[in-house]
Amino acid sequence: MRVPQAVARTATTDDDAGGWSAALLVVLACVVLAGALFGYDQGVISGALTGVQREFALSPLAVEVVTSWVTLGALAGSLAGGELADRLGRRRALLVAAALFATGAATEAAAPGVAVLVAGRLIVGFGVGVAAVAAPLYASEMAPARQRGRFVSCYQLAITIGIFLSYLVDQALSAGGGWRLMLGVSAVPALLLLVAVVPAVESPRWLVRKGRRAEARAAIVRARPWVDPDTRLASIEASLRDEPQDAAWAEVFAPAWRRPLVIGLGLAILQQVTGINAIIYYADRIFAAAGFATEHAQTQATTWAIGAVNVAATLIAIAFIDRLGRRPLLLAGLAGMGASLAAVGIAFHTIDSGGASVFAGTVTLVALVAFIVSFAFSLGPVVWTVINEIFPGRVRGRAVAVATAVNWGAAFVVSEFFLTLVDAVGESATFGLFAFFCAAGGLWIWRQVPETGGRSLEQIQAMWQANGAPPASAGPAAGAAG
Ligand code: BGC
Repeated sequence: MRVPQAVARTATTDDDAGGWSAALLVVLACVVLAGALFGYDQGVISGALTGVQREFALSPLAVEVVTSWVTLGALAGSLAGGELADRLGRRRALLVAAALFATGAATEAAAPGVAVLVAGRLIVGFGVGVAAVAAPLYASEMAPARQRGRFVSCYQLAITIGIFLSYLVDQALSAGGGWRLMLGVSAVPALLLLVAVVPAVESPRWLVRKGRRAEARAAIVRARPWVDPDTRLASIEASLRDEPQDAAWAEVFAPAWRRPLVIGLGLAILQQVTGINAIIYYADRIFAAAGFATEHAQTQATTWAIGAVNVAATLIAIAFIDRLGRRPLLLAGLAGMGASLAAVGIAFHTIDSGGASVFAGTVTLVALVAFIVSFAFSLGPVVWTVINEIFPGRVRGRAVAVATAVNWGAAFVVSEFFLTLVDAVGESATFGLFAFFCAAGGLWIWRQVPETGGRSLEQIQAMWQANGAPPASAGPAAGAAG
């Protein structure tokens, strides 16, 4: 089986020509703010929890609820997000997300008791879910085909920046026990998102789907003044021609779209069962178990070895995702993740059998950095990119919502059961299991996931329709030339 070496550079339509307009920059600003809020709200709780626990004397169950219900809110929010993005449009769905972020942050910061705090966490989670569907969907529909991977990866970059900022804010405010400020400060980027979304241009694809042709044409002129709007409009219309307006939910699961659905759900699950959030949430504890003795040493290791490295390595994906294609990044990343998880497993095995803990601690630190680097240039950005480009237009909003909800469901299961699993079988076997999922996932991608880089959304759609199943080894060059 041939692995594509590089995405063909031949432009396919005028849609593929690069370039920036003020309107596209506003779209990018919205996507980046939404991603940063997602990351911040996900990362902030680890540092806020001690203060919350002190003030409200939480039971262990309440601690778990305060921590994890953002994920449950996000699961529900992503399902609603698909509906909102299809009915109201991509832009207005982001407006709803921004309002939820701001309301949730204010509710958390002002909570007089644990019930209101949990309500605030659910509202924020719901906003995270809506944004997690609407932002990459918006990015993938607005981006020129040849920059789509890069555009959606900016969303992932923003998530990592949000997580990193939350670690820094937690550190800065932890001395004063400022948990209310930690949670409340995200209202500021939420308000910025509101301000950015108002003048933003709607996705022309969504407007055409709603029969608002003149607005779609105007949106194309604003977003990409260098293309001929009528040619572009005609190409969008051609891809929508055979589609009745609103597809039913059931159609997401129709046999015709089984292949993209399996790929989307498979990637969504793989991104989580290879352990990223177990490491993001419990990094302090992992470093403690690996011999980092003081709390200060643990938070420093987490902030820089996990948080900062995650941001920096995502830049690699931004540089290469459109040049090399999706498959090479996914396969290389999974190889790196699998090898580093195996190394962490072996290091813990040494610790468990009374081996030198300074050495094992160093191995763990280096291997976790290697793991984060490998995730950040592959599964992090590429999974969101592929999920947002493989589905046909008529089911895209809903199918992306299902895949995103499955991603959150898997994140919830992994973060809920990680500590239980560690108690039951030990760190070594737990990391071994994550490594096994990397190997199995790599094999599956090698055999089943075709290259989508360098193709327009219309070409990808045609690829599924052509013979029901494109060959997994089809290089991007074949489609890009069409
Ligand atoms: C994942 C999150 C994860 C983050 C880490 C995202 O792509 O969906 O679950 O926490 O990457 O950078």
